[in-house]
Amino acid sequence: MERKWWQDKVCYQIWPKSFQDSNGDGVGDIPGILRRLDYLKELGVDILWLSPVYKSPLADEGYDIADYRDIDPRFGTMEDMERLLAETKRRGMYVVMDLVVNHCSDEHPWFQQALADPEGPYGKYFYFRKGKNGAPPTNWRSYFGGSVWSPVPGRDDLYYLHLFCQKQPDLDWENPAVRREVVEMVNWWLDKGVAGFRVDAIVNIGKPAVLEDYAPDRPDGLADCRKMLADPVARRRLHGYLAQLRDEAFAPHNAFTVGEVFDTDPAELQLFIGQNGFFSSMFDFAAACWGGSPKGWYDAKKPGPDNYRDCAFASARAADGVGFLSNIIENHDEPRGVSRYLPEEASGDPRAKKALAAVQMLLPGLPFLYQGQEAGMTNTVFPSIDAVDDVNTRGEYAAALAAGFSPDEALARVARWSRDNARTPVQWTADHAAGFTTGTPWMAVNPNYTQVNVAAQQGVEGSVLEFYKSLIRLRKNDKYKEALVWGGFEPLHQDQSGLAAFVRAGGGRTLAVASNLSGEPQRVDLPGTTKEVLLCSDGAPGLTDDALILAPWQAAVVELA
Ligand code: GLC
Repeated sequence: MERKWWQDKVCYQIWPKSFQDSNGDGVGDIPGILRRLDYLKELGVDILWLSPVYKSPLADEGYDIADYRDIDPRFGTMEDMERLLAETKRRGMYVVMDLVVNHCSDEHPWFQQALADPEGPYGKYFYFRKGKNGAPPTNWRSYFGGSVWSPVPGRDDLYYLHLFCQKQPDLDWENPAVRREVVEMVNWWLDKGVAGFRVDAIVNIGKPAVLEDYAPDRPDGLADCRKMLADPVARRRLHGYLAQLRDEAFAPHNAFTVGEVFDTDPAELQLFIGQNGFFSSMFDFAAACWGGSPKGWYDAKKPGPDNYRDCAFASARAADGVGFLSNIIENHDEPRGVSRYLPEEASGDPRAKKALAAVQMLLPGLPFLYQGQEAGMTNTVFPSIDAVDDVNTRGEYAAALAAGFSPDEALARVARWSRDNARTPVQWTADHAAGFTTGTPWMAVNPNYTQVNVAAQQGVEGSVLEFYKSLIRLRKNDKYKEALVWGGFEPLHQDQSGLAAFVRAGGGRTLAVASNLSGEPQRVDLPGTTKEVLLCSDGAPGLTDDALILAPWQAAVVELA
């Protein structure tokens, strides 16, 4: 495998609205990010992925873009963005933007012109279709609930397609003019100095030749729009569009790209992230998808540590020798990883948070941290559905009500999956609004901020934050890089419940990573004798000739002789 500049990097996702406010309006902004650059540098991260900061009505928090070449005034100005590019460069860091091109905002001039003249050139940028006997053109359910079709105002026979919310009309990628617009815009940002893109919802751009009804799969009489992803024409089109983006934009700039790719067939992995793949990397969502239900969030099962381990290990094996997956325990669309994968009674325990961190950060692939993860931030509490901002959660709440749950039960069932869990302001300090803003935060701070915050952990030995720093340092240490970045992967004792252990070997060194993801001590038989303990989350592990004895929730990395 040819080596690439980004492979030994550590990535960090910023969701700007909740990262750091600089002007007291309660909304995070780019000058706020600038203020935290030294902190991020010290943490050891290199590539910053910025969730959308483009001009947007924020109907889906920026994933609805009204101008791809401008910054929303709530987040700052283009000068701020340029300053961010310069200041990251000065620190040897990189900025990756979010590329949201399955759809734009209904307030984008393209869509405004399309509405004014659906039969004109901009009408061909979108999917306008006639209804069927007063009903929408197909029975597809959108990702956020309800029909994917909304009527064109003033034209009751005509609808437009939106796989996400009503304010996110889908772009028609079969139209070469759309592809040209996207390629030019991507090159414009790359020329400006961004290092690449996280590519949003991208599998959805390939659509079937004919849009037709599917068998209804819920009491609402609709069918999951995701069914179309398996259509062979849709898939072929997707591959063609992605090859064009790669060849005409990403590759000439040697850009780093990471795809938000769900629903890949293992056979497609090579095509997506292999040598000359469409993307540099793609997220591994195996654990995030575990326990999902076709009925909706209210019916989803909570994964435990063994489920997380099994998903992550299966993905690592599938990608072995193919390419680099990007490993996450959370992002802006998912609940907090510690609340999701650790047993409820342990999700607030710093030892357990560190044990989970060791696995994610040392797996093969590229580690992505999500803002606040490094301080051990957890899910929040929602006093009522009115405290929920996220369109997705509201849709899932409606589905739970429709299934017969009382409002209280419905809220309790969807709250643990809510995207807002990860969207509360970053907890920097124990002061007013957790140090996020001097004003009133746009979304309530998680009430645990007085205990869980960056300031309380900075420089404090044994803290979650300091442990993340040591994991990053270990990964980047020249002595172990061959093993931890480019080395092989062998699971150990995967049948031992509550244990996640594996061997990473390369450059003449063999490292064993072992995390006790349980409240009981665990013995880990090793395939060799321990030469040196490189890292331990709490105290020191028990050692015998060929085994480690881990205390509850203890993680250790040892070099084997
Ligand atoms: C992706 C984003 C999510 C957004 C959706 C539509 O899944 O991560 O936040 O709602 O795409 O753009």
